[in-house]
Amino acid sequence: MHVIQEEATLFNFVLFGATGDLAMRKIIPALFSAHLDGKLHQDGRIICVSNQQLSQDAYLDWAQTQAGAHVSEGIAGENAKKWQSFLARIAYVVLDANNAADYTLLGQQLNTEAVTVFYLATSPKLFEPICNHLAASSISLDNARVVLEKPLGHDLQSSRAINDAVARVFAEDQIYRIDHYLGKESVQNLLALRFANSLFEPLWRRESIEHVQLTIAEQLGVEGRGEFYDGTGALRDMVQNHLLQLLCMVAMEPPTSLDANAIRDEKVRVLRALKPFSRDDLESHAVRGQYAAGAVRSQPVVGYHQEAGIPTQSKTESFIALHAEINNWRWAGVPFFLRTGKRLAERTAEIVITFRPIPHAIMPMPSGIPTSNRLVIRLQPEESIQLHCFAKEPGDGMAIQPVALDLAFDQAFKQKRADAYERLLLDVIRGNLSLFVRRDEQEAAWRWVEPLLNHWQSTSAAPKSYLAGSWGPSASSAMMSRAGAHWPEDR
Ligand code: BG6
Repeated sequence: MHVIQEEATLFNFVLFGATGDLAMRKIIPALFSAHLDGKLHQDGRIICVSNQQLSQDAYLDWAQTQAGAHVSEGIAGENAKKWQSFLARIAYVVLDANNAADYTLLGQQLNTEAVTVFYLATSPKLFEPICNHLAASSISLDNARVVLEKPLGHDLQSSRAINDAVARVFAEDQIYRIDHYLGKESVQNLLALRFANSLFEPLWRRESIEHVQLTIAEQLGVEGRGEFYDGTGALRDMVQNHLLQLLCMVAMEPPTSLDANAIRDEKVRVLRALKPFSRDDLESHAVRGQYAAGAVRSQPVVGYHQEAGIPTQSKTESFIALHAEINNWRWAGVPFFLRTGKRLAERTAEIVITFRPIPHAIMPMPSGIPTSNRLVIRLQPEESIQLHCFAKEPGDGMAIQPVALDLAFDQAFKQKRADAYERLLLDVIRGNLSLFVRRDEQEAAWRWVEPLLNHWQSTSAAPKSYLAGSWGPSASSAMMSRAGAHWPEDR
């Protein structure tokens, strides 16, 4: 028997878009993991809502085959009974988002004693009608929270329109804008590394740091989401949210506490301090690419234009590399290089902090390799922190060699690592906003990326082509060389 933690909150979890891809791949599996870990209140209910005419049984069968396949712990064997007790929490409700009467039926499913979470895993077009109908219905929103999935708009104006519509119904402290990167254990560890150790803070500034690199590389292509992805592109899909959130975690000033607004105040200051792209920077500090047919993990894959749902003339970028700067006293002049792409050589997410070289070498430093100290924070696939230093090789003479001080988290901590969605969904139920994006952060991020979007829209130039399975277009390495830096694979 699982012990229910004392603080488990009684909840109604209303999942709009319950038959969709996100619900099946992420949300239901995450709720099941939380159930398995004994973290859900035993009377907490999950109300799955969609416009598809399915019976309760048909929906549960669908969830079993679709979501079950994405449960990392599995739903068979010793988890089979738990899966059944999890399914017993679920009620399926057919609802047309634009039909007021359907919200009355939804209201009948809710336990009025509980916190209600409305998770909008739908197209953003439905956010406004759903919120308006909830407000007009008899459902009480006093003890309610709403979770908004990205993409929240496609530019500043459209994101404002969505935020305004939601704000007419929910107060800002009821709105949970999800960025699943903030739920990753490794990203929170970055906060611990910076703010639970005294070692790094004196060095964490322009005087000691030469540049910072942030990479999120994927081997996957557009994975059946061609139509969505083509209207989005890497800048909106990964940079405006995930990469800029990572940048904030690296660059923010120490918050006064872990309080949600203390953290978010510091993040928004970083976003507002990002140096705007000048006309020249739009060309020299940004590289966009699109993959051509190649091979990933030795398997041939088609090019972007051959993917289902992609128009043959599409100019949408599947890769982007940026040279950013932060205009404040701590970081002025320090390049922050950001890159992300699909169909790249490896699946990896890492942050590399390169320190300034020693001012005067009295020992023969090794040749052909970087001779600066580097702190490499690896977020995935495995989580580790390595501090690359130099030491004397044993033996005669004074030969210097690189060595790494290595912290591998799976060896240091044996506990199960919760999936990002599990962590975030539990935070919504508990009412902890720290790992969610505030409206001003989101708008500051849009404001910074928008000149790039406008520039690309106005130019006839196409993204640079790169071979699937490579590290992106050569222009990305050239952008680094111009700043006197290089990506790890170019060394
Ligand atoms: C999502 C993007 O937000 O993040 C996807 O929409 C991308 O295109 C995914 O594949 C990457 O997340 P992770 O956790 O697998 O790195």
